[in-house]
Amino acid sequence: MAPLVPKAPAPSAAPALDQGADQPGAQARSLEPLPWLPVLETGNATVDREHRQLIEDANAVHALVGAGGSWGELVETARLMRDRCVEHFATEDAVLKATRYPDYTRHIRAHRRILTEIDTIIADMESAAEPTRLHWELALSLRGILVDHLLRDDLRYKSHLMYYDSPRS
Ligand SMILES: [Fe+2]
Ligand SMILES: [Fe+2]
Repeated sequence: MAPLVPKAPAPSAAPALDQGADQPGAQARSLEPLPWLPVLETGNATVDREHRQLIEDANAVHALVGAGGSWGELVETARLMRDRCVEHFATEDAVLKATRYPDYTRHIRAHRRILTEIDTIIADMESAAEPTRLHWELALSLRGILVDHLLRDDLRYKSHLMYYDSPRS
């Protein structure tokens, strides 16, 4: 198995990352890239393209942790994912508003909450002069936050969009 964290400066962090039974440890066990799942297709080409990109970005974060990449590169990659998240949420907010999604308000609230969560994580990562195991685990939590929203919240509007695109008379 590939090293989980860089050999230096935190060698003691490596073994625990894939052995913990708690939430961060459980997340860290899954360092494999997450494949695109057909169930995630919403039918809106722009949304689907952005979702695919976000999963790629989140996978890139995991790949860097798995390969023991440089901390600076990891922070940059996490920032890129965050920036694309901001763009995507703006796209999705506009699509849901234009199609009069009934749960629009709750959905944009979820977007705001997630961005706050991601921003907090990235701020913690940016402030780490010497990252500890916790910082590496924080980076690994980003993909879960994103995928959880895709599966829990975004799939809810899928049938709405399908109906809106071809409403029955
Ligand atoms: Fe969303
Ligand atoms: Fe989305």
